[in-house]
Amino acid sequence: MPVIAPSILAADFGKLKEEIEMINESEADWLHVDVMDGVFVPNISFGQPVVSRIAELSKKFVDVHLMITDPDRYIKDFAKAGANNISVHIEACDHLHRTIQLIKENGAEAGVALNPHTNVDLLHDVLADIDLVLIMSVNPGFGGQKFIDNTLNKIRKIKQEITARNLNTKIEIDGGVGLLNAEKILQAGADVLVAGSSVFKSENPTETIKKLKSLTGQ
Ligand code: DX5
Ligand code: ZN
Repeated sequence: MPVIAPSILAADFGKLKEEIEMINESEADWLHVDVMDGVFVPNISFGQPVVSRIAELSKKFVDVHLMITDPDRYIKDFAKAGANNISVHIEACDHLHRTIQLIKENGAEAGVALNPHTNVDLLHDVLADIDLVLIMSVNPGFGGQKFIDNTLNKIRKIKQEITARNLNTKIEIDGGVGLLNAEKILQAGADVLVAGSSVFKSENPTETIKKLKSLTGQ
């Protein structure tokens, strides 16, 4: 069964509490939280005080996706805010191994995110150290974009390496994921599906989550 991670970025921020309660009552496994700094990506979302409140309200595993430059400066703050996983972008880290250790020292699981142009082979020497590979299937910065099909090749490639080395690293796919393409994403080897617009903008978000959760990828 896939891990389903609705992305709060697509929620109605005017009723954030109700939206989180809806996720709490649903079959979702994780809550995906997108932090954008307006530098690494051309958009600003929210910071540590908001994440802290989201984490307080969430009964689900809080999966924080940092789309920020030099994330080391804020790892401690987001761990304190209640992040269960912190993913940083490989493109934003000069000393990725150090950053991964910092995340773990602060008690969170560690994920590494890759932009659509970044080759998964770059993860080879840290793959055994991380809990999660986050493969972006859109250029980060905005919700509601179209899934980039080459992502499927990247999933297959990294899945092969994870299996060959007998690692537990999960593969998470983020951007343009919904009921129309989730099955083929799972077939390629993904473990975690992030879904923003396809959940929150659907007529019945709880039902959409349930449908995503029931996919097998077989
Ligand atoms: C994009 C974010 C995604 C986004 C996904 O920069 O990292 O997590 O919220 O939104 P959808 O599912 O609408 O593409
Ligand atoms: Zn994200």
